[in-house]
Amino acid sequence: MRISDKPVAGRLKEFGVELRPGVSLAEQTSLGIGGTTEEFLLRQYDAIPQVMRLLADENIPHRFLGGGTNVLIADGELPWVILHLPTAQPGIKIEGNAAMVDASADLGGMVTFCAKHDLGGLEGLIGVPGSVGGALRMNAGAYGTQIGSFVREVELYRAATNEIETLRGDDIRFDYRHASFAPDDIMLRAKLELPSKLYREIITGIRVCNEKRRASQPLNQKSAGCIFKNPPGASAGRMIDDLGLKGHRFGDAMVSDRHANFFINAGRATCADMLRLMEDVRGRVQSSFGVELENEVIVWQN
Ligand code: EPU
Repeated sequence: MRISDKPVAGRLKEFGVELRPGVSLAEQTSLGIGGTTEEFLLRQYDAIPQVMRLLADENIPHRFLGGGTNVLIADGELPWVILHLPTAQPGIKIEGNAAMVDASADLGGMVTFCAKHDLGGLEGLIGVPGSVGGALRMNAGAYGTQIGSFVREVELYRAATNEIETLRGDDIRFDYRHASFAPDDIMLRAKLELPSKLYREIITGIRVCNEKRRASQPLNQKSAGCIFKNPPGASAGRMIDDLGLKGHRFGDAMVSDRHANFFINAGRATCADMLRLMEDVRGRVQSSFGVELENEVIVWQN
């Protein structure tokens, strides 16, 4: 039975949760892959601890979905409900050199919003798809810029304490495509400190990054960005390319012709197709280079 039809639905609504049954996650992810489930929109941040307690008491399995741009989700009827924050527009306030940003704000939108206030530093992140929350969780980076370098505070729901807490930037460890949050923490807001820079200089930097990205990445195809992390001192894309695997496919899951670390959904790829392709490529890289590629994409399987 759907949660929306159970008595608990009324309690969830009291905590500001909007219930949406029959949501296709293929439509909410940049890969265009994912089954169906119920979505709970968390409209009231301060009630999130009560919502989480209720979900635990009622044994309702759940997962939190951000921008959906770095996740590969199982096919079919999914065994968990999806928690989601409503999208903030623009969800940013500027005070001096600080930007107060809602986690559900669009990352690229934040870069240009800050630019209009003569705040730079984030140029490299232009074109990284997804939400600010996802960028924080993964310490998103490109062209020598990582979001973690600018973080002064993060307000988040902490699963370990079932409370909303504010962490200081110094208390968070940001590494390559990784931050020290727990997997079930939910980013809510962040305070970034950004260097002052003239708008026109920032825009020049943004244009350069956009050009580089357009020249090397398949931007108009369905993907989750790079599928594997780069191993220390090496490039996953170059290794896969060297093995002649561009265009290699299982069903509609295909290694991009443009950038070999982008695996694209060329039509109606399933999660199973994509996982097969990932395992196949990982195995080939392992036997040829002796390197075990680690997923960059987050995989949600049943
Ligand atoms: N290369 C190839 N063939 C390919 C792809 C790349 O030979 O098919 C070569 C390039 O010519 C270059 C080297 O490999 O000499 C590195 O390629 P690139 O500059 O494209 O960078 P990357 O290491 O593949 C990383 C990030 C990207 C980020 C770019 C730009 C990872 C896994 N990837 O890619 O991030 O946009 O640098 O900074 O860290 C992502 O995180 O999803 C992502 C796409």
